[in-house]
Amino acid sequence: MSNEKIQKVTIPQLKLKKESGEKITALTAYDFPTAKILDAAGIDIILVGDSLGMVVLGYETTIPVTMEEMLHHTKAVVRGVKRALVVADMPYLSFHLSQEESIFNAARFLKEAGAGAVKIEGASKKRLALIEALVDAEIPVMGHVGLTPQSICHLGQFRVIGKHIEEAKKIVNNALNIEKAGAFSVVLESIPLELARTITEKLAVPSIGIGAGPFCDGQILVFHDLAGFSNGYLPKFVKKYADLHESLNKAVENYMEDVKNGKFPDDSHSYHLKSKISLDELGLKK
Ligand code: KIV
Repeated sequence: MSNEKIQKVTIPQLKLKKESGEKITALTAYDFPTAKILDAAGIDIILVGDSLGMVVLGYETTIPVTMEEMLHHTKAVVRGVKRALVVADMPYLSFHLSQEESIFNAARFLKEAGAGAVKIEGASKKRLALIEALVDAEIPVMGHVGLTPQSICHLGQFRVIGKHIEEAKKIVNNALNIEKAGAFSVVLESIPLELARTITEKLAVPSIGIGAGPFCDGQILVFHDLAGFSNGYLPKFVKKYADLHESLNKAVENYMEDVKNGKFPDDSHSYHLKSKISLDELGLKK
């Protein structure tokens, strides 16, 4: 085993990547084994997204996700990570009431779960003041504009945001205001690529795109989408790099067939008594 100390990904390094034009890689993870795989592959950022609710917990939206669920999964991810920056998503209602409660909730991700930063959706006046307060409390913040899934009750459906001028102007302002408030990066979700390009050029901090085209400083996808975990609907911006649904389905069918046919377990998957022990000694001889 190598004694070489692993260098953690830091927030200043992400800014340097933007400045040098080196793309930032990010994926979501919600558990220990996935986090280990992503980290060993050298991913820069692992987001414990509140997409947890839809991808892993089976909710229809991200709205029901709780602080306790997010903390539980963030802790598991942190245990699997040696290098990547772990960002924890603040779930709905964990940062909407008082500023004091929001800072307390955000700090739990750092103090209890070991994350390196939090992400919060939106850019209302209150939200911008909160980002300033979080940064003042030494909590690094990743912003999130464009499609903000926690706004689903307003939006009615997940859709591309900012195709038209008024909405587009609002998104540019939101991203710039989030940077001004002190965020170290901004997620741009489901927006036209032209808009993402303009925002990325205007921002000094890295933009991380999902459904925002190729001109962002970095890209993020939901791991389960990339891995093809589901055979259901996927948005246009997803690229499947594996078909785990198909492979796992096959594996389970093969297992069932082997069990039914007595092919599993065979000798190679079984244990033996020490040859010295006789059935007599076990008191089993007839
Ligand atoms: O919750 C999540 O996974 C996210 C990403 C899609 C950016 O917010």
